[in-house]
Amino acid sequence: MEKKILFPQVKGFVHGGDYNPEQWLDRPDILEEDVRLMKKAGINSASVGIFSWSVLEPAEGEFHFEWLEEIIDRLYENGIYTVLATPSGARPAWLDEKYPVAMRVNKMGQREHHGGRHNHCMSSPVYREKVALIDRKLAEKFGSHPGVIMYHISNEFSGECYCEHCIRRFRSYLAEKYDHDIEKLNKAWWTAFWSHRYNNFDQIEPPFIHGETSVMGLNLEWKRFTTWNTNDFMKAERDVLRSVTPHIPVTANLMRMFGGLDYRKMAPDMDVVSWDNYPMFHNDWETLTDTAWETAFQHALMRSLKRDVPFMMMESAPGLVNWQEVNKVKRPGIHRLACVQAVACGSDSVQYFQWRKGRGSYEQFHGAVVDHIGTDDTRIFREVAEVGELLKKMAPAAGTLVKTKAAMLFDWDNRWAIEDMQGLGRKTKKHEETCINIWKEFFRLGVDMDIVGSDENLDRYDLVVAPMLYMLQPGTAQNLKAFVERGGQLLATYLLGYVDADQLCYLGGFPGDGLKDLFGIVSEEIDSLYPADRNGIVVTDERLCAGQEMGCADSGCGGRAESGKVWEVTDYAEVLRVQDARVLGVYASDFYQGTAAMTCKSHGKGNAYYVAARTEASAMRPLFEQMMADAGIPVRKLAEGVECHVRSGEEGVYEFYLNWNKEEMAVSGVKGRDMVTGAEITDTLTLPGYGIAVVNLLSR
Ligand code: GLA
Ligand code: ZN
Repeated sequence: MEKKILFPQVKGFVHGGDYNPEQWLDRPDILEEDVRLMKKAGINSASVGIFSWSVLEPAEGEFHFEWLEEIIDRLYENGIYTVLATPSGARPAWLDEKYPVAMRVNKMGQREHHGGRHNHCMSSPVYREKVALIDRKLAEKFGSHPGVIMYHISNEFSGECYCEHCIRRFRSYLAEKYDHDIEKLNKAWWTAFWSHRYNNFDQIEPPFIHGETSVMGLNLEWKRFTTWNTNDFMKAERDVLRSVTPHIPVTANLMRMFGGLDYRKMAPDMDVVSWDNYPMFHNDWETLTDTAWETAFQHALMRSLKRDVPFMMMESAPGLVNWQEVNKVKRPGIHRLACVQAVACGSDSVQYFQWRKGRGSYEQFHGAVVDHIGTDDTRIFREVAEVGELLKKMAPAAGTLVKTKAAMLFDWDNRWAIEDMQGLGRKTKKHEETCINIWKEFFRLGVDMDIVGSDENLDRYDLVVAPMLYMLQPGTAQNLKAFVERGGQLLATYLLGYVDADQLCYLGGFPGDGLKDLFGIVSEEIDSLYPADRNGIVVTDERLCAGQEMGCADSGCGGRAESGKVWEVTDYAEVLRVQDARVLGVYASDFYQGTAAMTCKSHGKGNAYYVAARTEASAMRPLFEQMMADAGIPVRKLAEGVECHVRSGEEGVYEFYLNWNKEEMAVSGVKGRDMVTGAEITDTLTLPGYGIAVVNLLSR
């Protein structure tokens, strides 16, 4: 596999972060000191220009780039590269004063006031024009500067606008989508219900909070439109930059599994995916390992948006943030773990928000590499400098990729549809949580799953999990069928295939679109359980029983709920009709006691498993192990809290080990050179408490 190093200039990993010199222009001493400190911390890149519009263009048409030029020059002279942002994340006052249409309209239909950030109308032609102008000027001025290695478009796109202009665009988006035929839309949105039929596209309004919110098709199309429109805005910025300097890669910083935009639709339009990572470490509801592994899931999600190039961790907090419920500082050693985790998961950068704490305003107490004290002897500074050293040691691993044989299907559309679906338990749908828990359980078995779209090509995978895949995209069912028929191991759970991409229910039994035959079952009812209700899946399959840690001595247990032999069921239980699947487990109680709760239908070497009820991911472990065995994926269980990721490329394989325990941990079966300590490991790797190792397996 060809090595895809993102930044040949940097010759390794990018280490840097948001830098706001415009807040310190009256303090040349501080700007000078910044460079000294950056070098000391092993910083090789700075992201500049984010939210700098009012300094770059203080009055309409008056551009002042000299200060930025000085900064970029000085950084470059000192070996620090620039990630140059476009300033479209926040508007200067003059712009809103003169062009109020740039301000967003909220879902009550009210025009918002000037202020804040990320609150523009993405459709407004005049706003787009002003953005394009300053972007062009920036690219013309700095695009050929040898220090500029990347463009960072805007900042964390988000939100919706309900202005007249956006509404018009929404209507034409719909007209295009439904072939200018309102009857097609009426059919797709089932508008005969509650007299919701439209006569023409001009009658359609977005789902104002005090307007139409009861048409599922409308709600979903509005979300799709918002993604489309935001992406269109991003592409407009990108195209201006590319037209001037096509050689400079472009990114936009994303926000993990943010629900407002379908990132999978946006990723193809950027060169590199980057994201902002702010886990709530040391919280009081989960273990540190749980927080860490949820973060690993988020990294995997971001990584899988563009599987053939490394991603970037564009922001993370060096110490603490200022916007969480409780802004706890990262304990000593955790910063290093979190940074190495990003790299382990496939990031080619470790970047921070922010370099230096501002003196005033909203983020004055947000963590930074340099605190108000201004010195290089703080704990945080030392920890950042240590990361800088580490990244240098690991540099050969830059450009390599995490490759895996397993994938989880996760669609934004499906997520939106489940949220909006009127049914089930109001508080217990928990689609995201379910996905994360299943991902983590596979991770405990040594699988670093990709997270991909249900209609994406699955050729590179041998094991696929589809939790709660309620909505099928066109092509999803065929995709899954082809996967199983070529020998893949597929697991789907309750809520599979109820609706199509317009959110119309499939007729003739769930799961729709031919999946009944793939799985050999029909789901006839779904029961939602009250929080205190419990049922169970009694595992009846011998192979799975053998794999049970508790053992299932009585393979003919046929519906008796005995502790240790059942997987506990909460929240949801589907009543199945079995067509031609094998029954692997049955319900333990209630009126559907003894009926199928877990099934498998084989297609040659391929297997389509169905688990019809919600159980803890850990309960399903025997099933996961069985699927892995059949997929030829080895199980590797490490001690709780010890994490391993593998990156590989043409020059080597790198195993990253992280120990989230305070105590020392040993990992056996490790052979290679630890790039951190330089030690040769011949079998047992000893990780200190909160320790890390990056083992280069040259021989493999
Ligand atoms: C986001 C933004 C940054 C900053 C940080 C604070 O990620 O992109 O500008 O506000 O949050 O955590
Ligand atoms: Zn608008």
